[in-house]
Amino acid sequence: MSIETFVQQLDELAQSAASTFAAAADAAELDAARVEFLGAKKGKLKALQKNMGSVPGESRKEAGMKLNAVKQAIQAAFEEAQGRLGGGDGTDARDPEFDPTLPGTARRIGKLHPITQTINELKDIMGRLGFTPAEGPEVEDDQHNFEALNIPRSHPARDPLDNFYLSVAQSQAESALSSDNPLLMRSQTSTVQIRVMENSQPPIRIVSLGRVYRPDSADWSHYPMFHQIEGLMVDKNVTLADLKTVLKLFASNYLGDEVPIRIRPSFFPFTEPSVEADYYWNGKWVEFGGAGVVDPNVLRSVGYDPDEVSGFAFGLGIERLCMIRHQITDIRYLFTNDVRFLRQF
Ligand code: DAH
Repeated sequence: MSIETFVQQLDELAQSAASTFAAAADAAELDAARVEFLGAKKGKLKALQKNMGSVPGESRKEAGMKLNAVKQAIQAAFEEAQGRLGGGDGTDARDPEFDPTLPGTARRIGKLHPITQTINELKDIMGRLGFTPAEGPEVEDDQHNFEALNIPRSHPARDPLDNFYLSVAQSQAESALSSDNPLLMRSQTSTVQIRVMENSQPPIRIVSLGRVYRPDSADWSHYPMFHQIEGLMVDKNVTLADLKTVLKLFASNYLGDEVPIRIRPSFFPFTEPSVEADYYWNGKWVEFGGAGVVDPNVLRSVGYDPDEVSGFAFGLGIERLCMIRHQITDIRYLFTNDVRFLRQF
């Protein structure tokens, strides 16, 4: 093809594109015209570009420059038509409904897991009541999980069927397993009470939130791993009345000012007296968790003098609190990591 023919074809295309764009009555028509002329695959400009290969070699450069100029002209004609259809006020011709003056929507980025959110909130509430966060290991020994908590050798809580005892590497097996201080995944966060008291002196006001493990079969309310929040206060003259006040403030902060709470007598080896705490929610009493006045034997096991100091402790299930608050009907939702569930938090 001669350079003259090529140039002529391009000029005709530019004219035809300009008049088609100018005639477009709305955004949809204009877009169709854009595809017709500028479409990357089947556009007319693209089709003409193919002819460039048959232009004689010495005119190739001129042909290329002409092609670019026409491409720019067609693009400019399109943009002009776009501005006209959009009214030139910033609205987008491709989507006349689009209003650039409206506020944007937040981009969805990752969120904290509902249990982590709950932990943070509970930690915050207890922090305002003066309780500092404390941590302990998840792999514990008998001493901290049972012995120092006044749980006797014969107590059913130590049953191998109710605990994840660890079998450790061969070389350590003798010292760890056959010793009288075997290792296990902690079954309660009460272990942290002992760890804190071993390493510090009263006054103590700590809260510990973390995972605990029990070989329960999973159902709507059980899971072999779950979370507890443990509180401990030790000072001169700490009583059950202080415990009830703290539980009441805790419940009001998490569930709302008006939520009533009650305590009932119960039994735990590490507290005397022991209580079970409930709060009233949606027409019925719901169990909150266990609590009580720290047993003198526990204070003695960490070297405190029970005649000098006293304390209270409590341990509550975090999943249960989270489920009540968010009306979650099955604990397993919290651990299957289905994004349709997780996105709701
Ligand atoms: N550790 C108990 C449990 O897992 C809960 C508990 C009861 C914790 C009484 C306490 C307490 O600190 O005083 O069932």
